[in-house]
Amino acid sequence: MLTSDSITLLRHLDALRAHSAAMLAEKLHTSQQKIHALIKDIEDAGIAIVHESKKNYRLAHPLDWLDLDAWQQAMQTRGAQLSKKQAVEQRTVTIPLQKNKQPLSLMNVVTIDSTSSELMRRLPHEDIHALTLAAEWQTAGRGRHGQPWYALPGGNLMFSLGWRFSQDSHFLSGLPMAISLAIANALTQEGFAHIQLKWPNDIVFHYQKLGGVLVEISNDIPDATYAVIGVGLNLFFPRPMREPITRAVTDLYSINKTMPERNTLLAAILIELVKTLTIYARDGFAAFSASWQERHAYHNRAVRLRLPDTHISKGIVVGIDDDGALILGDSAEDKDKGARYTAGEISLYPA
Ligand code: BTN
Repeated sequence: MLTSDSITLLRHLDALRAHSAAMLAEKLHTSQQKIHALIKDIEDAGIAIVHESKKNYRLAHPLDWLDLDAWQQAMQTRGAQLSKKQAVEQRTVTIPLQKNKQPLSLMNVVTIDSTSSELMRRLPHEDIHALTLAAEWQTAGRGRHGQPWYALPGGNLMFSLGWRFSQDSHFLSGLPMAISLAIANALTQEGFAHIQLKWPNDIVFHYQKLGGVLVEISNDIPDATYAVIGVGLNLFFPRPMREPITRAVTDLYSINKTMPERNTLLAAILIELVKTLTIYARDGFAAFSASWQERHAYHNRAVRLRLPDTHISKGIVVGIDDDGALILGDSAEDKDKGARYTAGEISLYPA
């Protein structure tokens, strides 16, 4: 199993030249024996390591770490400007929108329990509006329904973005769906074809999950509703890592057979998210429902819907309404008389 120690070791490995166990042990203030054990953990997780001699290790493929300079460059290529106001260990850019400009900051950490938990912890002491926290590795990454979020270091984008709204939390019920649409749009712009959505907010490719969104809301600050938007996206997710997951999952690498550049992808996604959040804050989910439905992999398909109380409903997906509810009918023409559902887990029926 990977730990923060194995991630620290991983950060010291290189694909171009081998490092000796003795040198790595010195850098990590540990024993050579521990280095060998950590190397084994890394290999077991699916990251290939070349043993150049018995005690010299090299990465078989370069790992693409998150980097503030590379991210800033990618944001500037997409029209953002470097902001004059910079804080320590974070980078702030200004994104031009139709009518105004929106500042956005990024912080990177190597290891953390969960980027979303960290933004929630910061909320009482600092304004997390438009602050993004990205991590290479989460020790307690959280998915929806209390599920863990599994990822390979360097093979996933894991970040959380704080956003302040003046409306109450009911207004934000469709926000996770708008966010998944923004990510799908960004992936399409970056050259990934056939990216679709699965209600309520999974990003899928041929019915296999590529990524997910976890939005958590806080009303603790007076006169504002804060959303912590957590995003996890599989870029490279080898078989051994997929084992604990019961659902069909895939990664971006499998789509185009090349490894997407993480800093570039993060920039492209954040620009789309900022545009989406700005529109959402004004118009709510209604502004996105038609485009969302167009991307829905299950539209017009017969599905089984497992409700939170474990009851099962069956029907044809006939639409998504302006609040983001799923509409199930008896036939594809039933849009106006179908039954409305606001929660549940869908699967194709018959499977
Ligand atoms: C899902 O279950 O589909 C949602 C997954 C969300 C995972 C991301 S990874 C970054 C952020 N931090 C977390 O602990 N969870 C979210």
